[in-house]
Amino acid sequence: MLNINAVTETYLHGDLLNAIETSIAKLGKTLDSVTIEDLAAVDEFHIGGRVATEHLFDQLNFSEQDHILDVGCGLGGVARFVANKYNNRVTGIDLTQEYIETGNALSSWVKLDELVTLQHEDALSMSFQDESFDGAYMLHVGMNVEDKARLFSEVNRVLRPGAFFGVYDVMRQKEGELAFPVPWAAENSTSALASPDEYKQALTEAGFEVSKEVNRGEFALDFFKELRAKNEANGGPPPLGLHTLMKESTPAKLKNMIDNIAAEYIAPFEIIAQK
Ligand SMILES: C[S@@+](CC[C@H](N)C(=O)[O-])C[C@H]1O[C@@H](n2cnc3c(N)ncnc32)[C@H](O)[C@@H]1O
Repeated sequence: MLNINAVTETYLHGDLLNAIETSIAKLGKTLDSVTIEDLAAVDEFHIGGRVATEHLFDQLNFSEQDHILDVGCGLGGVARFVANKYNNRVTGIDLTQEYIETGNALSSWVKLDELVTLQHEDALSMSFQDESFDGAYMLHVGMNVEDKARLFSEVNRVLRPGAFFGVYDVMRQKEGELAFPVPWAAENSTSALASPDEYKQALTEAGFEVSKEVNRGEFALDFFKELRAKNEANGGPPPLGLHTLMKESTPAKLKNMIDNIAAEYIAPFEIIAQK
């Protein structure tokens, strides 16, 4: 079983709120004028950022009155995007306390704190009552959770019957030695990658019906190619970005992840399931 401390150590920044505030000032914005579009570069911590989020949500039938669960919300960028676009109430949970505190501050800056609540919880044993939510999603979290059977049965428990659950995770595509560190793990022993088939089996055994699986590997490689071209043209990355989260480890983690994807050892996959 993966040690919870290993997971939170991977993501701990130490001074994240301050780092984001400083970068916002460099953008020429204030905490009153910053928008969720400005924040997307840092608060959507998954391959493809906002573009990938929109692609996933186009396949989920959430409606306006739904109360949605964000499993492993990080800073809550996806939760704010969903609340802003669909007017949903969203509750996000995450193991990393610093992300929860920082994410709640970000929600108040963009005045979405009434719709979005982020709280410190382990996805493997959530405090919510059965059937509390009308839908759920999880982006780039399963790579940190070895016990997928327990994870999905816990998500299933807190969803009402008929609810959609959208997953967008980095998954194992074929055997091969992976380069580390990557954004979710410093080394192989703290990475819990599984194949799409293993995800689908765990989802089905937890009580979900899986309707779709999409390999987003090519999209991922195109996304990083464009990002690199943009950064080169601008003489470096913008003030706010994933480098704000991962600091000096960013180039090595991104390079290894891209190399692993290019070798087809791993790829981000979407899976759409329904309780
Ligand atoms: C790569 S980040 C993705 C964050 C967010 N979903 C996003 O796309 O921006 C992975 C997140 O999963 C969280 N996480 C990992 N294991 C978890 C668990 N058992 N329960 C709750 N959160 C977890 C980490 O703390 C981290 O914030």
